Amino acid sequence: MNPIADLDILADTTAPVSSAPDAQSEIDQPRTVAASAEAPNGRRVFIETYGCQMNVADSELVASILGGEGYGLAATEDEADVVLINTCAIREKAEDRVRGRLARFRAQKTKRLAAGEKDLTIGVLGCMAERLRTKLLDQEKLVDIVAGPDAYRDLPNLLASADETGQAAVNVHLSREETYADLTPVRYDSNGVSAFVSIMRGCDNMCAFCVVPFTRGRERSRPVTSILSECAQLVEAGYKEVTVLGQNVNSYRVDADGHAVDFAELLYRISLLSPELRIRYSTSHPKDCSDELLHVHRERPTVCDFIHLPVQHGNTDVLKRMRRTYSREQYLELIDRARAIVPDIAFSTDIIAGFCGETDAEHADTISLMEQVRYDHAFMFAYSERPDTYAARKYSDDVPEAVKKARLSEIITLQNAVSLEKNRQRIGRREVVLVEGTSKRSDEQLRGRTDSNHMVVFDRPAGLAKGDYALVEVTDCSSATLHGTFVSATTLEDAAHPSAAV
Ligand code: SAH
Ligand code: SF4
Ligand code: F3S
Repeated sequence: MNPIADLDILADTTAPVSSAPDAQSEIDQPRTVAASAEAPNGRRVFIETYGCQMNVADSELVASILGGEGYGLAATEDEADVVLINTCAIREKAEDRVRGRLARFRAQKTKRLAAGEKDLTIGVLGCMAERLRTKLLDQEKLVDIVAGPDAYRDLPNLLASADETGQAAVNVHLSREETYADLTPVRYDSNGVSAFVSIMRGCDNMCAFCVVPFTRGRERSRPVTSILSECAQLVEAGYKEVTVLGQNVNSYRVDADGHAVDFAELLYRISLLSPELRIRYSTSHPKDCSDELLHVHRERPTVCDFIHLPVQHGNTDVLKRMRRTYSREQYLELIDRARAIVPDIAFSTDIIAGFCGETDAEHADTISLMEQVRYDHAFMFAYSERPDTYAARKYSDDVPEAVKKARLSEIITLQNAVSLEKNRQRIGRREVVLVEGTSKRSDEQLRGRTDSNHMVVFDRPAGLAKGDYALVEVTDCSSATLHGTFVSATTLEDAAHPSAAV
């Protein structure tokens, strides 16, 4: 979605707005299954996923768990015996959208039953599960099963129980230990080139605006060996990029081999698996982004020189109200330090407009911080009050909608201008692009990303395929995409040591 072209988005101040299409930290359009698979037990599941990359990764675990019990995947809801919606609760609109879908599935179930056709079991998974279970089950009678993010191993039982008893089955227990470490996700919606790998679950940060600690529970890290073996399997299967996921990857910590392994060491160890596997991660909290981590970026050529480093706001008082635990100055100092250690590193961010009590002067600080940092991309949101959060309990959501909208609009306009300028600076440069597939507009063009996470489109040369690396010279750009000309096929190793290339 190009925010300049799509100002309708401003009619919905809670929708996510991204300056980086295809790189959304949160999915606006649901993800579903690409193809039908076999169903040894005769039942097919249709999974629809909303929310962030962690939810996408979780749906792949759900497919794995149910696949192990003989369920097949359905490509459409019409083919399905079971529909599961993996939900997001981050903003009010995200919940409304899911409710709309549930009502539709319910209507389909009623229609099927009236026509004497096969039943449709409807399930809600993910971040809305805990909070809305009573409403969805008792008041609105919309669903047959509800499973929270830590209850997916229980799904086969829940489905069987709902089937046998005709009663709703629920498990929204949040665990302190579950990391699904032993499961191999079924990557049913994958391009075969890049994959998500969850390294931790939950969040302990309690930012004042955020519902995630309530929906996903306490923070816990997955053992190193299971992460490394999943990444090694991906390399074996021909994948060229992993994005390791957690709500705050910088706080990753486990005991392994008798010592504590932190996120910098984990990344380093993943980078030893293959010289051709690009590594990205999301999300990084500015409060504990270490120098060691920055040095891993500098020293390991496969660790992409790009950090998603959400600032949320540019004013220290607002950051304090948000409970982000860093000041504007500390954030800017981190950006400077990163740029000193890793020259040419690219940044994206998340920004919230119209948080409780935000004044014009405080908003102006967000604008000035954006001008100072000059992010390559940004995900920009209007504040949406979430029940139970610190902000909902302690502050008043007092910035009028029209003001939120105007401030968000100003933020988007500025980011688009900066993205365009920064993209223009890349014209004439040669970039290493990992080919992800054909361009959306034409089969004659390929698309892929640079190390810095910029999307590049270029004419398809003979012999180049999905999963290959190419050297591409940037010739033109918009605020969202670079356009280029193919120079040569390459490998990451050759690109990192050009003199060694034949
Ligand atoms: N763990 C990540 C953020 C996950 S949520 C981090 O700390 O960076 C993704 C983004 O949604 C957040 O960075 C924030 O910008 C936005 N967001 C979260 N709660 C919100 C709310 N109540 N209203 C508007 N935006 C919100
Ligand atoms: Fe939410 Fe803050 Fe945790 Fe991110 S770090 S998930 S914004 S509480
Ligand atoms: Fe992600 Fe939404 Fe849950 S952003 S963690 S799916 S509330």
